[in-house]
Amino acid sequence: MKKKKLSKPSAKRRKKRNNASYIVILSLLFMAIMAGVWIHQTLEGDLGNNAAANIGADYSSAQEHLMSNSALIANIEHIEIIALNNTDSALEGSVLSFVAVIYGTGSRGEPVEPFRTSEVTIEPSFYLPNLQPGSVVIPASGGLPGTIEVLVGYYGIRKAFTYTIKRQDYTSLGPSALVNKYTSKLDINARPAMTTNVNGKEIEARAGEALMQMIADAKDEGVKMYLSSGFRSFSLQSSLYDRAVASSGANQNASAPPGHSEHQLGYAADLTCNEIVEGHLTVEFEQTQAFKWLLANSHRYGYILRYTRENIALTEYMYEPWHFRYIGEELAFQYVNEGWRSLEEFLSIPREAF
Ligand code: DAL
Ligand code: ZN
Repeated sequence: MKKKKLSKPSAKRRKKRNNASYIVILSLLFMAIMAGVWIHQTLEGDLGNNAAANIGADYSSAQEHLMSNSALIANIEHIEIIALNNTDSALEGSVLSFVAVIYGTGSRGEPVEPFRTSEVTIEPSFYLPNLQPGSVVIPASGGLPGTIEVLVGYYGIRKAFTYTIKRQDYTSLGPSALVNKYTSKLDINARPAMTTNVNGKEIEARAGEALMQMIADAKDEGVKMYLSSGFRSFSLQSSLYDRAVASSGANQNASAPPGHSEHQLGYAADLTCNEIVEGHLTVEFEQTQAFKWLLANSHRYGYILRYTRENIALTEYMYEPWHFRYIGEELAFQYVNEGWRSLEEFLSIPREAF
């Protein structure tokens, strides 16, 4: 029998074998990484609606927190962290709110109502001011469009929300535009395309038509009111702002900085009546018949009360019972009927200007 010649593997075969080993090692490495990612996701609590995704999530610190607050839920089964106004995009300057919903059973294993709390943490970030528990403001994006990730947590459970920041086109701002301290500065020359005159004051044309009808209908019901301030140019806003800062300091919350006022949009109406001395814009306006009528009816004409006692932390402006904002009838009805607290939250989901 011819003895097979035992020779050293050729360089070609050695290379082939080495390649095969690399493939095996890389595959094992890949499988280990994938397993790691899966375990990590499970432990982090990738909290979709699928309860199965939560198996293995660590609820111990949340459980401890609930126990020390004598909550009805004694055994947590599942925690969801949700965005109240969820979408994958948000308008710059809008406010997004997040809550944790905790599902579980009572001390005797009995079913209990899920517990809903805005007591969530939002990862601190230098450009996302934390307004109040569970809320963040979406900053103006430098580029077009920007993307932002908001990390929300509830006692050891974390979830990331990603949003595309929608920037508004300031050349065609409609009644659904959001303008506040956090939106991009309006151009120095920006002004409504068309204005109308209401008792000697200029205001955006559609807002003005609606306002005239509103003032006339209120008058028919024996309630008188008039427009004190409508459209304000960048330079007028600038002098009002400077005056407010001179009298109340840099942290004053009465006047918007120039380029950040709804009055420059032309969709803001400061209303007053004869019961108020010299028609001054003061909190006493809320005691008048005019204010009560506006609170009940203004949405029928497309107006909403913009700066309330309840949304001071969100808008960063004082309560202004005189400042009504035109957003159009359709949106105003939706805003009031759905009980929205601020335009910042309501408009967080970008809407087409109309
Ligand atoms: N007073 C409101 C905030 C403004 O100046 O636009
Ligand atoms: Zn105003």
